[in-house]
Amino acid sequence: MAPSSADSLSILGIETSCDDTAAAVLRGTEILASVVSSQDEVHSPYGGVVPELASRHHMQNILPIVDQALHTAGVQLDQLDGVAVTCGPGLVGSLLVGVSVAKALAMAKGLPLIGVNHLEGHLLVVRLEQEVPFPFLCLLVSGGHTSLYVARGWGDYHLLGGTRDDAAGEAFDKAAKMLGLGYPGGRVIDRLAQSGNPTAIRFPRAHLKSGKCGFSFSGLKTALRLFLQAEGRTSFRDEDIAASYQEAVVDMLVEPTLRAARELGLERIVVSGGVSANSRLRQRMLEEGKQRGLDLFVPSLKLCTDNAAMIAFAGAWRLVQGQRSALDLNASAVLPL
Ligand code: KG4
Ligand code: ZN
Repeated sequence: MAPSSADSLSILGIETSCDDTAAAVLRGTEILASVVSSQDEVHSPYGGVVPELASRHHMQNILPIVDQALHTAGVQLDQLDGVAVTCGPGLVGSLLVGVSVAKALAMAKGLPLIGVNHLEGHLLVVRLEQEVPFPFLCLLVSGGHTSLYVARGWGDYHLLGGTRDDAAGEAFDKAAKMLGLGYPGGRVIDRLAQSGNPTAIRFPRAHLKSGKCGFSFSGLKTALRLFLQAEGRTSFRDEDIAASYQEAVVDMLVEPTLRAARELGLERIVVSGGVSANSRLRQRMLEEGKQRGLDLFVPSLKLCTDNAAMIAFAGAWRLVQGQRSALDLNASAVLPL
C-alpha cells in the first residue's frame, strides 16, 4: 500500500548495490516489470562477491537490463514520472554504476531523480503485496545487514540493534564456502537442510545480555570451522551439518525478534532481505509468532532478495512528498537508515 497520490506514478527503479543488476518499472503498487540479472556464476568460484568484477559486470549489464524492464512494462522513458536509484549502502563501485545511469536518464529526459537507501527498499517492499499497517517491527536480514527496526511510519524508522560482527546471510555464505557449496550459500544450505536433521550437531548460539538488542554470528562460523577441522566431512552428512547450522542461525534470529516485539508491545512483524527467503526462518517465525498472537508478514520470494521494484516503491513515496535528489547525488558505501 503506497500513499494514495503515488497510486498512478510510473517509476523506473535501478538497483546495483552488490552483485545483482536490477531494473523495474512500477505503476502505483503494480510491478509492470522487474528484471534481475544475477552475477552468481561470476562470483561463485571465489566463494563471495569480488567488488571489481561486480562493478565491471554491472557496467556491461545495466543498459540492456533497463531496456528490458521498459520493454516488458511497455513504457517509454518519456512516460515515466521519475527515476529511483539505490545510492547506498553497498559496494561503492557497484552503486556508482546505477547512480550514474539514473542521473544520465533523469538529466536527458528531464525526470525527477530520487536516491534511495537500499535498506528502506527491503523494509518497505512487503507493502507492495500486503497491507501492513504501521507500526511494525522489521527484522531486516540480508547478506550485509542483520538489524531490527521499528517502522513507525513512512520514513520514520528506529534502529533497535544490529549484528556485532557478521550478517546472517554472510554466516550462510561463509558456511557454504567452508562446505564447498559455492556462492551464494543461503539458498543451497536451505535446500540441503530440508533433508537433514537439525539436532544432529549442537552448534553454539550467541545471546546478548538481557536488555541488549543485537546479533552475533562470528562465533557460530568459527564453531563450524573447528567442527570441520575436528570431524572432517565424513562422520556427518552434509544435509545434517546444513540443517544443524541453519537451526542455530534461525534460533539466533527468532528469539531476539520475538523478545523485542513483546517488550515493545508490537503486534506485527515483518521479515525482509535475502535471508527472509529461508524456508526454516519463515516457518519458525510464523509458528512462534502465531503462538504469541503476532502477525507475520514476509515478502514473496522474488521480493526478498535484491530487486529494483523495492527501490522504485521506496522512491515513489519520497517523490510524492516532493523530495528530489540533485544531479550531484553520490553513492555511499555506508548509509544509515
Ligand atoms: O538482500 P540480498 O539479496 O542482498 C543483500 O542486500 O545482501 O541478500 C543476499 C543474502 C545472501 O547472503 C544469501 O545467501 C542469502 O541472502 N539468502 C538466503 C536464502 N536466499 C538468499 N539465506 C538463507 N536461505 C535462503 N533461502
Ligand atoms: Zn539487499
